[in-house]
Amino acid sequence: MSTKENAKDENAENGSADQDNKGRGDSSSGFIILFFIVGLVASLVVGWIVFPKLLYSRKKQPIDFNHVIHVETVDEGCESCHFFREDGTFSGIPKLEQCTDCHEEAQGEDPNEIKFVEEYVAKEKEVPWLIYSRQPDCVFFSHVAHVKMAKMDCATCHGPVGESEHSKVYEKNRITGYSRDIWGKNISGFKKNTYDRMKMDDCAQCHEKETGDKGSCFQCHK
Ligand code: HEC
Ligand code: HEC
Ligand code: HEC
Ligand code: HEC
Ligand code: HEC
Repeated sequence: MSTKENAKDENAENGSADQDNKGRGDSSSGFIILFFIVGLVASLVVGWIVFPKLLYSRKKQPIDFNHVIHVETVDEGCESCHFFREDGTFSGIPKLEQCTDCHEEAQGEDPNEIKFVEEYVAKEKEVPWLIYSRQPDCVFFSHVAHVKMAKMDCATCHGPVGESEHSKVYEKNRITGYSRDIWGKNISGFKKNTYDRMKMDDCAQCHEKETGDKGSCFQCHK
């Protein structure tokens, strides 16, 4: 049988099937709506729950760091470890030498501290901390402009890290290579806190609000 005839036959069959179905039209449209809903729910689950889980790889910090214990122990709060140098540049994540005064030897029984002392302090090896807020290389950012000049809180951009008892998991976007802290907690782009996301538009939005001007490309891209 040629394909043309085949198609004709099918059409004829479908035609009669349609007529048979007329009386049951209500229930079949019910099924169509049900299928539509099932499909919609399935794609929402994939898009909102499965995809974001697959999109980010999760890494633990090499050592779990407790900010609460340390902020209580040091003399000058955050500045003891995250300080500005004379030339205005920001020290960022502390170097090992800032820890060794207190951790020459383990102070307690905490296995995490013992690991830190044995694997890093004793071997004089820097801890390869992962940086949640790291921007791509093309972006220029200055802490002194925001913290000293504009008097902003660390938490505005970083959230309550200074009050945390554990280092949070570092989530890296498999496609862009950016950290979750840059591209946002919420896949839909919805933002509850100022620190949920730090993309270009988030920087520019605050600049426009504070200074009435979005700024030129060269303000942030040198
Ligand atoms: C004893 C030293 C020490 C003190 C004091 C300290 N920090 Fe930290 N901070 C660290 C270390 C080590 C890390 C890296 C480990 C981590 O991210 O959990 C870090 C990481 C951070 C980060 C993450 C930056 C990023 O994007 O990865 C922020 C934000 C931060 N600290 C804010 C604060 C604030 C705010 C305070 C004061 C309330 C403070 N720290 C006090 C040692 C310190
Ligand atoms: C002013 C002294 C001081 C400095 C500076 C200091 N620590 Fe500590 N650290 C302590 C004390 C006190 C404890 C609590 C000891 C205990 O009871 O286990 C502690 C506990 C720890 C622990 C185990 C508890 C936990 O889970 O976090 C780790 C790991 C640690 N410190 C890492 C660091 C690192 C990394 C640095 C440098 C960025 C640092 N410390 C700088 C005093 C200090
Ligand atoms: C206006 C937003 C903003 C504020 C306010 C802010 N930060 Fe940051 N912070 C950033 C950004 C953006 C980066 C990433 C910079 C980069 O990748 O060049 C960063 C990076 C860091 C890092 C990692 C730096 C490194 O590369 O070693 C630490 C630690 C940190 N900030 C701590 C602090 C602390 C402590 C305060 C308060 C004194 C603070 N920040 C205030 C936005 C901010
Ligand atoms: C919550 C508000 C806020 C956020 C978020 C913010 N900024 Fe700013 N930024 C300011 C203010 C306020 C100033 C100071 C403006 C002035 O007085 O000129 C400033 C100044 C700057 C300057 C000029 C510094 C100089 O040396 O002239 C740069 C560059 C900059 N911001 C980059 C960034 C980048 C990149 C981000 C995002 C990662 C960012 N900012 C996020 C508020 C913000
Ligand atoms: C207030 C600071 C700021 C201004 C002004 C700004 N940018 Fe950006 N830009 C960023 C930040 C932060 C990122 C990284 C996060 C992201 O991709 O959103 C970025 C990312 C980019 C990227 C993607 C680079 C990459 O490696 O993913 C391009 C392209 C870009 N900017 C172009 C521009 C152009 C063109 C202008 C001027 C119209 C401009 N930017 C103005 C802060 C800024």
